[in-house]
Amino acid sequence: MKRVTKAVFPVAGLGTRFLPATKSIPKEIMTLVDRPLIQYAIDEARAAGITEFIFVTSRGKSALEDYFDMAPELEASLQSKGKTELLDALGSTYMDSGAIAYVRQHKPLGLGHAVWCARRLIGDEPFAVILPDDVIAAERPCLKQMVEAHSETGGCMVATMEVPKDQTSSYGILDVAQNGGSIAHVKGMVEKPAPGTEPSNLAVIGRYILTPSVLDNLNSMKNGAGGEIQLTDAIADEIASGRDVFGLKFEGRRFDCGSKSGFLRATVAFGLDRADLKEDLKHYLSDLVASGELDA
Ligand code: G1P
Repeated sequence: MKRVTKAVFPVAGLGTRFLPATKSIPKEIMTLVDRPLIQYAIDEARAAGITEFIFVTSRGKSALEDYFDMAPELEASLQSKGKTELLDALGSTYMDSGAIAYVRQHKPLGLGHAVWCARRLIGDEPFAVILPDDVIAAERPCLKQMVEAHSETGGCMVATMEVPKDQTSSYGILDVAQNGGSIAHVKGMVEKPAPGTEPSNLAVIGRYILTPSVLDNLNSMKNGAGGEIQLTDAIADEIASGRDVFGLKFEGRRFDCGSKSGFLRATVAFGLDRADLKEDLKHYLSDLVASGELDA
């Protein structure tokens, strides 16, 4: 089986949930502590062995291109002041020439359509998709867990976790043959099922390893949930064609950074995880609890 070396990052969304900030900043540039969401996604991809990064962008996303470019003036200024730690911090933002490619999605037709826009850059090999809104804190990065599991299973693989029943209508939901063990064989998938019709409470989280046949399925441009071309439907077509799809119940904590409360939670969690911030943040939080302010 061919190794997974390419990853698609759909970053064309308008980020309306974070207006007015996203009027001029792509939501993927919004920061958890001091690193943009997209940096977490790229680091996770690198840790999984990805060497080619494909961004599906739209108008107003040029800040993303600049972020991964060299910054000679900034570097020179930091160097002249001897700020080596800050220079090191910049290191992870650099990409080798040609390692990153941008394609435009000209109309917001859905996640499936966004991934389809990258088809010529993907070619005929398995590829990963990472949704930067889903930030996953894990000892072993989530995509790495998936790449390892996928090397045994082949087929398509999605990251999955259980969500409360009353939230299933916000996700792609899996129908699985057996809900035991960490890898589930998927019998069906439905995008944002109407409440009460969900086949399980196993939600798709924004990490995928897909076979190129999913791109062929997307050629049909079928409208799905919300009138959009859904990636979930194209993966479900694989199952209908008799091909294997697996759900990996990854180890780690997922934050929905597409929502304000998820973003705030992630900020606290990543802050507490930082040696330079932990003590101060811990004191602030415990003082907040002790003061009774949270009961008001
Ligand atoms: C997308 C996918 C959905 C998945 C979710 C995970 O939905 O379409 O299947 O469960 O991401 O975050 P969105 O959140 O873009 O509506």
